[in-house]
Parts: sequence; structure tokens; C-alpha cells
Amino acid sequence: MTAPRPRPLPAQPLIELLDVSRRYGSGPPALEDASLSVRAGEAVAILGPSGSGKSTLLNLVAGLDRPDSGSVTVDGVRVDRLGEAGAARYRRAKIGMVFQFFHLLDDLSVADNVALPARLAGLGRRESQSRAGELLESLGIARHAGALPNRLSGGERQRVAVARALMNRPPLLLADEPTGALDSASGEEVSRLLRELNADGQTIVVVTHDTELARSCTRRTVRLVDGRITSDVTSDAATPVTDPESVR
Ligand SMILES: Nc1ncnc2c1ncn2[C@@H]1O[C@H](COP(=O)(O)OP(=O)(O)O)[C@@H](O)[C@H]1O
Ligand SMILES: [Mg+2]
Repeated sequence: MTAPRPRPLPAQPLIELLDVSRRYGSGPPALEDASLSVRAGEAVAILGPSGSGKSTLLNLVAGLDRPDSGSVTVDGVRVDRLGEAGAARYRRAKIGMVFQFFHLLDDLSVADNVALPARLAGLGRRESQSRAGELLESLGIARHAGALPNRLSGGERQRVAVARALMNRPPLLLADEPTGALDSASGEEVSRLLRELNADGQTIVVVTHDTELARSCTRRTVRLVDGRITSDVTSDAATPVTDPESVR
């Protein structure tokens, strides 16, 4: 039996930030001259202490904010040039996003939360529900489909949020401190889920101040200090990150 060969990564970057700066009011720059390029299929962790500009960077990639200077290009789209409606369209088509506090709608069922992005994109109710069901199944939370989110544990809610983020098959999954509100066991589950999604080809950028999360689900780590990228390290592909559970 031959081992599957790793898929070659495409040359064209999926994300390209060039000399991006963002300052709020008269404060110091939240992000300064940041340049970063991420290829499709990569998983990248953005690490840094609180206030170092991680969320600022992610929000710029998501088109939730605009830089003062520099360019943000994602999948061929100049995100920094989009207006409000264009940015909303861009996010629906290209971005799945997961946040620390889940941001689920409390009065919609789990299945309706997951289906919502597809409904907003114009997909019919039946097709949306069917895809939501598949996602919930594959993420191991199908039994909660009819429940309201507040009946679920934190780890389960984050799985629902991941399912919702994947609903429209976005080329890019962004996660901002996805384990920040979880106990360590649920955090590890979410981390494993991200790792599996990346193994299936999903491009992921995960922002965290948790080095353990970074280590366990990505090979590439970008460090931010005071709004500046201070390092960008990819560990040797020949020695993949060891899953602690696989060590006997
Ligand atoms: N909307 C905002 N208004 C004013 N200052 C902000 C805003 N968002 C972020 N900042 C400031 O920008 C800096 C970087 O913030 P942020 O990107 O949220 O950091 P991190 O996610 O690494 O904790 C911080 O000094 C923060 O106070
Ligand atoms: Mg943040």
C-alpha cells in the first residue's frame, strides 16, 4: 500500500496582506506595516498577547474593518476596497467565522442557526436544512439539531458555530480565540476539529494567545507584538505536530 502523497499547495496566495496599517483614533497603531501571505490549504495561527492586534488583523481579512493603508486581497478580491454591501457579499461567499463567544442566535434552533448563512445566500429551506443536518452529523452534534443553543455546553455551542461557519463552503475559515471561553477538554475538542478540517483541505487562520492551541492545530505560527509581525515560523513538514493521544 502506498501512502497518499501530500497535495501540492498552489502558488497563488489565498490571503495577501501588503504593508497593512490600522490605527484607531489617536492611539498607537493596532497594526503596523503587516505583510502576510497564506496559501490555500494552509492552517496558520496568529499568536500574540492581548492587545497586540490579532483581532484587528482578522477583521481586516474578514472585511469587517478597513485598513488606513496597505492592501488586503483574499481569493482575488481587494477586500480593502469593498463598500458595506460588497463586504457583506464577500463574507457570505468567502468567509466562515468563529468567535470566542459563539455568537449564536438564542431563539433559533441549532439547525436553523447552522442553516442561516445559506438562507441568507438565497438557498431554499429544504436544501439548507439538509446541508445543516449533514454538517451537524459530521461534527457529532446531530442529536441537538432541534434544541436551542443555550441548552448545549460551551464545546457543543462552538461546534455549532463551526458548522454554521462551514455552511456556505467558504474557502477561508477564520477563528478568533475559538477556545477562549471553553474548559480545557472542550478546547481540545475544538482544536482537534480544526485540525481535521485542515487535513480535509480547509484553509484556516486561527487567532489565539494560547500557544498550546497554536501548536496542536497548525504548523505555521505568526507572532504579533504591538501591532507588528515579529516572526513567521513554519515547523518542519517532515515532523508533523504530534497528537498527544497518539503517543503510547
Ligand atoms: N474599535 C476599536 N476602537 C479603539 N481601539 C481599538 C479598537 N479595536 C482595537 N483597538 C485597540 O487596538 C489594539 C489591538 O487590539 P486587538 O486587535 O483587539 O488586539 P488582540 O485581538 O490581539 O487582543 C488594542 O490596543 C486595542 O485597544
Ligand atoms: Mg482579540
